[in-house]
Amino acid sequence: MHLRALSQFARDGHGELAALVDLDPQILEQRSAEFGVPTYDNLERMLDEVQPDGVTIATPDHLHREIAIECLRRGINVLVEKPMDVTVEGCREMMRVAEEHGCLLQVDFMKRKDPYHIDLESRIRKGQIGDVQYGYSWMEDRIEVPRDWLPSWVSSSDPAWFLGVHVFDLIRWLVKSDVTAVSATASTGKLRSIGIDTYDAVQAKLLFESGVSFSVDVAWHLPDANEAIVNQGIKAVGSDGWMIVDSQDRGARGCLTGPVGAAVGSDTREAGASMFTPNLGLFLQRTDLWNNPVYAGYGIESIQDFAFNVAYLTGGGALADLSGYPSGRDGLEATKITTAVHESIDRGGELVQLEKQ
Ligand SMILES: NC(=O)c1ccc[n+]([C@@H]2O[C@H](COP(=O)([O-])OP(=O)(O)OC[C@H]3O[C@@H](n4cnc5c(N)ncnc54)[C@H](O)[C@@H]3O)[C@@H](O)[C@H]2O)c1
Repeated sequence: MHLRALSQFARDGHGELAALVDLDPQILEQRSAEFGVPTYDNLERMLDEVQPDGVTIATPDHLHREIAIECLRRGINVLVEKPMDVTVEGCREMMRVAEEHGCLLQVDFMKRKDPYHIDLESRIRKGQIGDVQYGYSWMEDRIEVPRDWLPSWVSSSDPAWFLGVHVFDLIRWLVKSDVTAVSATASTGKLRSIGIDTYDAVQAKLLFESGVSFSVDVAWHLPDANEAIVNQGIKAVGSDGWMIVDSQDRGARGCLTGPVGAAVGSDTREAGASMFTPNLGLFLQRTDLWNNPVYAGYGIESIQDFAFNVAYLTGGGALADLSGYPSGRDGLEATKITTAVHESIDRGGELVQLEKQ
């Protein structure tokens, strides 16, 4: 997604996709062939030689921090994948170094770019459901995500780190309030039975400073036959109305033959007809008149948004004038919530208070 977004940004004449760093030679070879990007297997060498204006980081969750700090110390703007870091202290360090060096630090909370969420946020802000009182959100992946997508680091992640942070950030953004306390429980069994030592699902209750409460269910063990890679949605109830966004069933549905659901990641289901509901709002690829790929969707936009912010800064714009992007502070709050969720699970579902910023 990063390479698609940034290569399109470059093709549209806004900047240059200068380099790709990875430790895996096969990835470097494949991506270089597809995107024509110079490759490096060493971050420092790339930073020394290329001196980029911005870097986007999509390494496994626990490896964001050191790469981000290395870039920020050199005065390079950073977009980091969610979760910003898996420790509160790591997020604070990233924010501190970004501030010291006057750098943009943005987090890829792409759910904020989903047009249905943009609409929901605007309706809530205009008071169309009154004062938000409570809500529910869910995000449940097919088992292929932990089983096939993340083989090398799956056991150091779980549904709360991989999916929960998205939802926690989305709700904070919708209700414009911080979480003060959390209680959570977890389910285990299915993933452990196939040798993956992590939770199947996490159930969390978030209490916000404003008095709002939200329940969140995230899971990693839906059967392969589930018709979408993820069941997801959000319901918000207020004093004068309610609204539900069903982000799984978006109105397109079919029973198709072969691997059909691979807009993101791989569809590992065997050939043979199966049900399918695509999320074309996330990612859509078509070709232009010259047969170049053209990418669209909120998965692309949230990365391009960072690139446009960097172009604004390198063109002489001031960091203080940028607004509306998921910031280091937003990344920190999502990590604080997720850390408290784990603490509560370890303490049998006890209510855990979050420290103030
Ligand atoms: N925004 C979203 O919706 C979304 C979706 C999926 C994944 N993610 C996040 O993106 C990140 C990557 O996830 P993924 O599924 O692509 O993981 P992945 O394991 O498929 O890819 C990670 C890549 O990082 C490379 N890598 C590992 N250590 C490195 C290092 N020190 N320097 C350079 N490269 C290194 C690996 O070789 C691999 O190619 C994670 O933080 C994940 O949570 C976000």
